Amino acid sequence: MYINFWYPVCTAEELSADAPLQVQLLGLRFVAFRDSDGKPHVLSDTCIHRGGSLGTGKIKGDCVECPYHGWQFAGDGRCTHIPSEGDAKPPARAKVDAYPTEERYGIVFAFLGDLPEDERPELYNIKEFGAEGWRANKLVILNVNCYYERSVENGLDPVHNQFVHPAQGFPPIHKETFRTWNDDWGGGFKADFGDPVLENTQIAKDRNVTGELSAGSWHHGPNTLVTSIFVNAASNFVQVFFEAPVDKNHTRIYFVNMRNFILEPEMDDKVIEINKRIAQEDIGVLEKLYPVRTPDNLTKELMTSSDGVIVSYREWLRKFEKKGWRIDQRAMQQNEGDVAYAIPSPARREAGNWVLDPVPLMPAE
Ligand code: FES
Ligand SMILES: [Fe+2]
Repeated sequence: MYINFWYPVCTAEELSADAPLQVQLLGLRFVAFRDSDGKPHVLSDTCIHRGGSLGTGKIKGDCVECPYHGWQFAGDGRCTHIPSEGDAKPPARAKVDAYPTEERYGIVFAFLGDLPEDERPELYNIKEFGAEGWRANKLVILNVNCYYERSVENGLDPVHNQFVHPAQGFPPIHKETFRTWNDDWGGGFKADFGDPVLENTQIAKDRNVTGELSAGSWHHGPNTLVTSIFVNAASNFVQVFFEAPVDKNHTRIYFVNMRNFILEPEMDDKVIEINKRIAQEDIGVLEKLYPVRTPDNLTKELMTSSDGVIVSYREWLRKFEKKGWRIDQRAMQQNEGDVAYAIPSPARREAGNWVLDPVPLMPAE
C-alpha cells in the first residue's frame, strides 16, 4: 500500500450532513464529515488527546467533536475547542492530520499523503463522465475479500477472460493479440480481438488508438483501473474501478460504468446486472489467491510473456516504493495495538510538533 495517491473514502450519499463517518483505508482509520457548507473533510480518526475515535463523535458547526471529552477539530485538523479548558486557546500541538479532498463522480476522495499540491499525481480524470452522448450508471460498490493489488492485476490481465468469463464470448487471447504501453503514472494493454475498431471516434483519437483493437485496460497509480471495450465501431463501454485498500484482506471498489450506446435509463439495471455477474466471476478467483498479497519477489510466481502487463504494474509499484511512498506493513503490524499511526498530511511539510507517529515507510532509494 502506498501513500501519496487519491483514494475513494465513501460515496457522496454515504456522507450525510448530520454525522461523521468512520472509514478504514490503508489499514488505518479516518473520519470523514461535511462542514456547514457541505464541503467534505477527511482527517485521521485518532483524537490526539487520549485516543478517542473522532468518527464515532458528532458534528458541531464546522467541526467534528470527539465523543470522549468533547475536543473539537476543524476541517484543517486544528483543535478549536477544549471544553474542560474553558475559553483557553488550544495548544499548538492540538492538531490531527487533515487530507485534501475532492468530490467527483459521486465519490468523496482524499489525497492520503504529504506531497504539496503541485507534485501530487492527479485524481484520474474520466473524460467521458458527463460528456455529451455518454451515460453513467449509478455507482456500484463491490466489497471484495482480497488484497487490492490482486484485484488491479486481475483487471489488467488480458488472458483470464477466456477462463473466468466464458459466457462473455471473447475469443482466445494470447501474447500476440495485445500490446502494452505506459504513460506518466501507469500503463496497460490494448488488445485486438479481430473486430473493427473505429479509429475515427473521439475516444480513439484522444487515446491514440490505432490498429484493429477492441478492448484495453490500464492502471493509473496503484489503485485506479480503467477498462475500455469497443463492442463494435459505435458502441463503447468505459469502466473505472477506484479501489480502496481497506486492509490486506479487504478491498472496497467504487465502480463507475459509462457507455455511449443503449442510452435509455431503463437499461441501467440490465447493464449493472451483467457487470455484477462478471465481477462475481472475478471475485470467486480473487478471494482464493495465495498468498493474499502479491509477492515482493517476481521469482515467487512464474510469469510468462503474456503476464507482461502484470510485471509492468509491479514495476510501477516498485517505482512508487523507491520514492519512499510504500507503507511498511510489517513494521506496522509489529506495533499493532501499541502505537497509533497517521498517514502524514501536507501540513507536516510546513510544521512539526505532531502527536502521532507517521506511518512507517519503506526507505526511499
Ligand atoms: S480523547 Fe478525544 S477528547 Fe479526550
Ligand atoms: Fe475479469
